[in-house]
Amino acid sequence: MCWSVMQSCSSAVCVLILLTTTLTTASESAVKVNLHDSATLSCSERCSGLVRWTVFTKPTDTLAECDQTSCRSVKEGYQMIHDQYLKGNLSLTITDADFTKRARYTCDCDGKDLCDMKLQIEPLNTPVQIEPGESLVLKLDVSDPVEVIYNSTDAAGPSSGQICTVDGRSLQCNDEYKQRMAFFSALELRGMKPYDSGDYIIMDIRNEEVIHTYTVTIKDDQPCPCRDQGAVVPAWMFTLTMVALVVVCVVSVVMILRKRREIERH
Ligand SMILES: *[C@@H]1O[C@H](CO)[C@@H](O)[C@H](O)[C@H]1NC(C)=O
Ligand SMILES: *[C@@H]1O[C@H](CO)[C@@H](O)[C@H](O)[C@H]1NC(C)=O
Repeated sequence: MCWSVMQSCSSAVCVLILLTTTLTTASESAVKVNLHDSATLSCSERCSGLVRWTVFTKPTDTLAECDQTSCRSVKEGYQMIHDQYLKGNLSLTITDADFTKRARYTCDCDGKDLCDMKLQIEPLNTPVQIEPGESLVLKLDVSDPVEVIYNSTDAAGPSSGQICTVDGRSLQCNDEYKQRMAFFSALELRGMKPYDSGDYIIMDIRNEEVIHTYTVTIKDDQPCPCRDQGAVVPAWMFTLTMVALVVVCVVSVVMILRKRREIERH
């Protein structure tokens, strides 16, 4: 097919055509919302028949649908509004967007594809402060295959990059992390050291999306407790003691001088 097109147009025009077709097919719209927010997948088209929203990979599982008489939520949490349908607004509202609902959604009119929309969730960010020797717990918010990427903030620490992958129940880690990383309901990295500080990024491998970033700082040891004790004695107490000492000194000197004068008189 491309050959016949090539023959009928100059190569420069052909490249332009190919470029525009790839760009239009690639520009699939996406909606990105915060976890548990509602998301509206918009679609403005006229349809006098049956409109259905489905997940692209499951075209027979209707989520919500509308026809001239009414709209129905086939699956809980997916809504279409009949007034809007009559106006040509075929939007789907997802009431509680979570990681399991990340997908490409399709809207069709009597089986004819009208709109394609992708739902994405904003990555989570969690700052973590831990004591040296404690464990870092990384929750896996999705059941999809993920990789854990470490982005170091300490030049003396381990190098940045992928440290583990999790696929189902199977955990694979680099040699450096094999002994320290465990996987139960979450990942657990044992024996954190100050140089382990940095970002630990949970990334969905299939969609190449960041799911969760843990920004980890490890508290430095305070080897000198005396500094803390010093801070306990307030400055006014110190001043008062000094003043008292000076007063005692002056009084003693005066007393001694008086005693001497008395002795000299006798
Ligand atoms: C379309 O309908 C949705 C609700 O289903 C609404 O949130 C949105 O604002 C509507 N869009 C327009 C352009 O009216
Ligand atoms: C790691 O950190 C650098 C510098 O802060 C940043 O440019 C880079 O995007 C980070 N990598 C990831 C995977 O977040």
